[in-house]
Amino acid sequence: MGCVRSWMLFIVVFIGEVFLSLGRKHVGFFIFGDSFLDAGNNNYINTSTLDQANFWPYGETYFNFSTGRFSDGRLVSDFIAQYANLPLVPPFLQPGYTQYYVGANFASAGAGALVETFQGSVIPLKTQARNFKRVAKWMRHKLGKSEGKMLLSSAVYMFSIGSNDYFSPFLTHSHLLNSHSHSQYVATVVANLTSIIKEIYTRGARKFVFLNLPPLGCVPGTRILQPERNGSCLQELSDLATLHNRILPVALSKLEKKLTGFKFALYDLHTDVTQMINHPLKYGLKEGKSACCGSGAFGGVYSCGGKRGEKQFELCEKPNEYLFWDSYHFTESAYKQVADRLWGYTNSSYNLGPYTIRDFFQIP
Ligand SMILES: *[C@@H]1O[C@H](CO)[C@@H](O)[C@H](O)[C@H]1NC(C)=O
Ligand SMILES: *[C@@H]1O[C@H](CO)[C@@H](O)[C@H](O)[C@H]1NC(C)=O
Ligand SMILES: *[C@@H]1O[C@H](CO)[C@@H](O)[C@H](O)[C@H]1NC(C)=O
Ligand SMILES: *[C@@H]1O[C@H](CO)[C@@H](O)[C@H](O)[C@H]1NC(C)=O
Ligand SMILES: *[C@@H]1O[C@H](CO)[C@@H](O)[C@H](O)[C@H]1NC(C)=O
Repeated sequence: MGCVRSWMLFIVVFIGEVFLSLGRKHVGFFIFGDSFLDAGNNNYINTSTLDQANFWPYGETYFNFSTGRFSDGRLVSDFIAQYANLPLVPPFLQPGYTQYYVGANFASAGAGALVETFQGSVIPLKTQARNFKRVAKWMRHKLGKSEGKMLLSSAVYMFSIGSNDYFSPFLTHSHLLNSHSHSQYVATVVANLTSIIKEIYTRGARKFVFLNLPPLGCVPGTRILQPERNGSCLQELSDLATLHNRILPVALSKLEKKLTGFKFALYDLHTDVTQMINHPLKYGLKEGKSACCGSGAFGGVYSCGGKRGEKQFELCEKPNEYLFWDSYHFTESAYKQVADRLWGYTNSSYNLGPYTIRDFFQIP
C-alpha cells in the first residue's frame, strides 16, 4: 500500500516537473491581431464567411485542409514558432486547448485596435487582451506567483493590428473617417493600441513584436475600388497606412521609456511588401500584384473558395509564384520570406526597433 502511494506521489511529482521544465525551457509565444496571424479563432465565433477561411482552397498546400488560416499554408507566426522550436501555436478558442505554457493565438480575422472595426463579426484586440488576462491568471494559479510571472515575462508577444481599422471605413462606407481628419483617426487607432499594450504589459508581458502595416491601397481587393484609376493603388488608404507607420514607433518608444522592462521589436512589413509588389522576380515570385485565388481584375473580387456570395473564382496552379493568395492576404511563400527576414539578421534594415524577434527567443 505504502509502495503504491509512493509510486503515485512519484508520478505526480514527475508530471509536475515535466510541466515546470516545459515552462522553463521553452519561451512561450502569444499572438494577437488580425487575419495575418489568425490560426483559426474565427472558426469558433458567430461570424460570416467574409471573416472565415475554413473552406477549400484555404490551406491547400501545407496542411492539405482548411485550418482557418487566410493563406494556402503557414503564416509568419507559424514559421517563427518553427524557427523557435515550438509547435505551431493553436487558436485560443480551439476546444480543449490549455497548453498555455507553449502559448496561445488570440488573433481574429477582421479585428482592429478599435472596438467599432467590423464590430459583431470579430474578436476586437481589447477582447483578445481580456482573453490573455484569463490565461495569465491561469498561469499564476498553476505555476505559483513567481514561476508564472517568470514564464509570462520571458514569453514573446507578437502583434499584427491596424489594417482593418483603415480597411473598414472604405469597405463598409462608414462615416468614421469623415467625422475625423485622417491624422486624428490614425491618432485614435494608435492610442487605443497603446492602451491595450499597456494592459497586456500589466499582466506580465515584456517582449513585444510588431509588424507595421503593408501598403493597404495596393492589395488586389483595394486596387479595384477605383475602377476609373485602372488598377493603380488606392492612394488615400496607403497614405493612412504610412501615417500609422510613422507614429507607431514614436508611441512604442514612449512606452519603452515609461514602462520598466518593456522591450519591442518592430518589423518594416511595409517596405518588405512594397519591394515584393514592385520587384517580384527579385524575390523568386512571378506575380506581385494579382491574387492567386479570386476573380475579376487582379483577382480583387473577394471570392476565393466560392462561399462569400460570389460562387465563381479562379485558382492559380502554383501559389508559390504569387505574393497574394487572395484579395487581401499573402501566400505561404511570401509569409516564409517575411518570417526569414524577420528572424534572420541578413537585412537588418527591415528591423526598425531596438531588438529582433530572434533576440527575444534567446534572452531571458
Ligand atoms: C449569430 O449572429 C446572427 C446574426 O448576427 C444572429 O441572428 C444569430 O442569432 C447569432 N447566433 C448565435 C448562436 O449567437
Ligand atoms: C489531401 O486531402 C485530400 C482530401 O481530403 C486527399 O484526397 C489527398 O490524398 C490529400 N493529399 C495529401 C498529399 O495528403
Ligand atoms: C479609442 O477609440 C475610441 C473610438 O473607438 C475613442 O473614443 C477613444 O477615445 C479611444 N481611446 C483612446 C485611449 O484614445
Ligand atoms: C490601363 O491599363 C492598361 C493595361 O495595363 C493599359 O493598356 C491602358 O493604357 C491603361 N489606361 C489608362 C487610362 O491608364
Ligand atoms: C536590404 O533592404 C533594403 C531595403 O530596405 C535594400 O535596399 C537592400 O538592397 C537590402 N540589402 C541586402 C543585402 O539584401
